[in-house]
Amino acid sequence: MHKEVRHPCIRHKLGLLRDEATDYKRFRELATEITKLVCYEALTEVRTRTVKVKTPVAVANCETIDEEIVVVPILRAGVGMLDGILDLVPTARVGFAGMYRDEETKEPVWYYEKLPAKAKGGLCIVVDPMIATGGSAAATVDMVKRNGADRVIIVCIVTCPEGLEVMSKMHPDVDVFAAAIDDHLNEKKYIVPGLGDAGDRLFGTQ
Ligand code: PRP
Ligand code: URA
Repeated sequence: MHKEVRHPCIRHKLGLLRDEATDYKRFRELATEITKLVCYEALTEVRTRTVKVKTPVAVANCETIDEEIVVVPILRAGVGMLDGILDLVPTARVGFAGMYRDEETKEPVWYYEKLPAKAKGGLCIVVDPMIATGGSAAATVDMVKRNGADRVIIVCIVTCPEGLEVMSKMHPDVDVFAAAIDDHLNEKKYIVPGLGDAGDRLFGTQ
């Protein structure tokens, strides 16, 4: 299942994020705010169990999150989504998938991987602002599954039909939540209209 999380607050913030005049400080703040809103929807996937809580008046049937959550940002740009998701689930463990997209081949090149042992159970949430060709996201899901994760979802900010098709073919069991499903990829495999190079815009490297 692929879901574009449509909400006026997300769409408003997305417009600001896309704007080429937005500087890296504001870009980072907006990425955090949008991540929080998209993750709020994505986290409906989390399992809960009922617990009894004594209020000052009576005993209430309440719910508590009942599974281990592991967040896996794809370096570098995925780090820009980490604060947003940890605001919602502060007890989540964090793993890292280090890769960059080769400028010629557009294929992901791995340079680092580190997952908490707890990735083996529970819910694994892969985060990256951009799913373009889908190569980086698909390779990361391969890696977390290889490490024992059996429930995986992806949260991104912007994706496109080409990337979602790759995800559907390679990992049909993995739901993708996005703030926007854009139009297409251009000849450089950038998302159109997109927001440019997310890593550079987050970290001020351009
Ligand atoms: C970007 C982005 C994704 C990848 C998406 O990272 O953050 O990880 O490209 O492209 P794909 O879907 O075609 O694989 P980039 O390679 O620019 O690395 P960076 O995060 O270090 O800037
Ligand atoms: N990576 C980005 O940062 N932006 C794109 O549009 C595609 C890949």
